[in-house]
Amino acid sequence: MKTIDMAVDLKGLTLENPIMAASGTFGFGREYGEYVDLNTLGGIMVKGLTLEERKGNPVPRVAETPMGMLNSVGLQNPGVEAFIQEELPYLSQFNTRVIANINGNTIEEYCRIAERLSDTGVDALELNISCPNVKEGGVAFGRDPEMVYKVTKSVREHTNKYLIVKLSPNVRDIREVARAAEEGRADCLSLINTLIGMAIDIEQQKPILARGIGGLSGPVVKPVALRMVYETAQTVSIPIIGMGGISNPNDAIEFLLAGASAIAVGTANFINPFVTAEIYEGIRAYLERKGYTSVKDIIGKLKF
Ligand SMILES: Cc1cc2nc3c(=O)[nH]c(=O)nc-3n(C[C@H](O)[C@H](O)[C@H](O)COP(=O)(O)O)c2cc1C
Repeated sequence: MKTIDMAVDLKGLTLENPIMAASGTFGFGREYGEYVDLNTLGGIMVKGLTLEERKGNPVPRVAETPMGMLNSVGLQNPGVEAFIQEELPYLSQFNTRVIANINGNTIEEYCRIAERLSDTGVDALELNISCPNVKEGGVAFGRDPEMVYKVTKSVREHTNKYLIVKLSPNVRDIREVARAAEEGRADCLSLINTLIGMAIDIEQQKPILARGIGGLSGPVVKPVALRMVYETAQTVSIPIIGMGGISNPNDAIEFLLAGASAIAVGTANFINPFVTAEIYEGIRAYLERKGYTSVKDIIGKLKF
């Protein structure tokens, strides 16, 4: 077997390999520790954190759809302090990057969480300005380029940590919000978060999710996500972490070719907890078959 360099450089954050676990689908790593050697992941984007503990939305809050799922979990989490005390020490044992996904109702809240995490061992912050499942904040920030700029710039001023801004697909033009985050001095962009969707129980004539609407994810969103990653890569010069429906090595390779420097796997973890390891092996085999010596050689190399 040839040696293949799987490391990637996100201009300020290096990863041993480009495969990450997407926020909200991998908990704080513990749940998957039994199935996956966490050292083999490039990074773990932890469940969305808020300043205070959140119980999340009422149930039912997940529903299966053809080729995907809807969720309205609503950022259930123990709060940033409990994360630092109880979860971070566990995650820090592994040779993987720990990315804290942060959420606020106001710019000030985002800044306070960022500040609190700044002198901890987390490797990066991922600003979730795109959650469709909270009443205030969340996607409201992610929709408006001016707000994206403001929240990014403010958080940037409160932390020296590597700053990833997670974009919402529920926008008029992904390029506008991508540009706004870059201008606000994000180090990196991650996309996409979930698309807003709905499902109805026709017998009860009621929405399946207690909150009515939720975020659509899984293979069904992949073509949309890929198109958005491609458009974003054509627009900004900061690195991109691509996600949305990645379920196998081929999906991951598509995102790398489209311009993502790394990828994250979300919903597919629920179906197959070994999927990240399979994607690693599949990318390696592809590179070897094609005669490449480094995964970096295929990033953004789509021929058009
Ligand atoms: C159950 C569930 C919970 C999620 N929670 C979060 C979250 O807390 N923060 C966040 O930024 N994204 C969250 N997401 C979005 C994912 O990280 C990812 O962006 C999205 O699901 C698309 O990727 P996928 O199709 O591979 O799942 C969540 C997704 C799901 C399915």
